[in-house]
Amino acid sequence: MPVNPRMIPFAKPHFNNDWLSQILSNVEETLLSGQLTHGKHVQSVEDYFARLLSPMHVATTNSCTASLHLAMILAGIGKGDEVIVPSNTFAATANAVVYCGGTPVFAEIDPHTLNIDPAAISEAVSKKTKAVTIVHLGGLPCDMRRIMPVIKKNNLVLVEDCAHAHGALYQERQCGTFGEFSCFSFYPTKVIAGPEGGLLAASDLKADAKARILINQGRGGFGPAEISEIGYNYRMNELQAIVVEAQMGHLEEIIRIRTELVARYRRNLTGHSSVTVPTVLANTQPSYYSFTVILNQGNRDEIRAQLLNDQIETSIMYHPVHLQPIYRKMYGYKPGSLPTTEDICSRILSLPLYLSMSANDVDAVCARLLSLQEGTNT
Ligand SMILES: Cc1ncc(COP(=O)(O)O)c(C=O)c1O
Repeated sequence: MPVNPRMIPFAKPHFNNDWLSQILSNVEETLLSGQLTHGKHVQSVEDYFARLLSPMHVATTNSCTASLHLAMILAGIGKGDEVIVPSNTFAATANAVVYCGGTPVFAEIDPHTLNIDPAAISEAVSKKTKAVTIVHLGGLPCDMRRIMPVIKKNNLVLVEDCAHAHGALYQERQCGTFGEFSCFSFYPTKVIAGPEGGLLAASDLKADAKARILINQGRGGFGPAEISEIGYNYRMNELQAIVVEAQMGHLEEIIRIRTELVARYRRNLTGHSSVTVPTVLANTQPSYYSFTVILNQGNRDEIRAQLLNDQIETSIMYHPVHLQPIYRKMYGYKPGSLPTTEDICSRILSLPLYLSMSANDVDAVCARLLSLQEGTNT
C-alpha cells in the first residue's frame, strides 16, 4: 500500500490565482492584438532582469541552452579552446562548449557544497583555457571569493550558468553579475517557471548588442533587414514572457517559501548520519531551485524505487556529464577520471521541492527516506 494517497512530485510549476488571472488576461489581449513576439511583455521581462542584475545588460532568449551557446560564441570559443566546467551539471552546460568546437574540461567539485572546487579550476587551467563556466547548482551560490582571483589571474572569461539561481545572492550580490556572461532558464520546473525561455546577461554593452542580433536571425530588426551575422532564432515570444512576467516581481517571496521548505528538510534530517545535507556558504541566500542530499546508507536505486512506490518522486541532479556515452566517446573519459564528483554523484538524491509543497509533505518525504535507509544494512 502506498504511504501517501497522492503523488508528491519532484517538481511542479505553481501559479497562484493572482498570477493566473494576470497571465490569462494578458494572453487573451496578446492573441487578439496579433503581437505574439517581440512585444511589450518581452520588453518588460528584459527591463525587470536588467534592474535585478544591474549593471548587466539583459536579453531574453528561448532557453538557457541558447543563452549558453551565445555566451560561448561571444566569448570567442572556437576549435582548440578549452572551457573549464563542472561535471555534475545538466549536459547543456558542457554541450554549449562543444557547439562552438571548443573542448569542455571537467573540474572536480567540492564534496561539501557540490559546487565546482575553486582549487580544481586552478589545476585545470592550461595554455588553451579561454573560459570557465560555473554552475550555481540547485541555486546555491558558488564560492566567488575564491573563484574570482583564479579567473582574474589567468585572464579568463567567466560564464555563470544561473539556470537554477534566479535571485540567489552571494554576499548580497546577485548571482549572474560576477561574470562576463550569465545564463538563466525558465524551464517549467525552475524558480520562475515558464513554458521554456531564458535570459542572457552580458557585462559588456557591445556583447549585448551582438547577442540581440544573433538571437534574431542575424538581423538588427524585423522584415527584410540587413543580415550582419549568421544568427539563430533564439527569441523569447510574448506568451512565454507573459508567464515569466506574472512571477518575476514575486521572486523574493518565491525564494522565501523555498527557503522555508528547505529549512524544514534540514531540521528533519539533522542528526541522521545516514544522510548528509550540502553546506551552504556563509553570507549567501540560495534560490533553492532544488534540495539534494548525499546518502551515506542504503542502495540509491532501491530507495528511489521504493519512494516512487510510495508516491514520492525524486531525481538525480546529476549523473556526471563526463561519463555520459557521448562524452566518453568524444573525449575518452572513463570512470575514475573525477573521483570526488563520481563518488558524490553516485550517492546524491534530489528530493521533491516546489512552491505549493506543504510542510506535511516535507515531513512525509523525510520520514519515509529515513525509514527506508534505516531498514537497510548496506
Ligand atoms: C544547470 C543547467 N544549465 C542549463 C540548463 C538548460 O536550460 P534550458 O532547459 O532552459 O535550456 C539546465 C536545464 O535544466 C540546467 O539545469
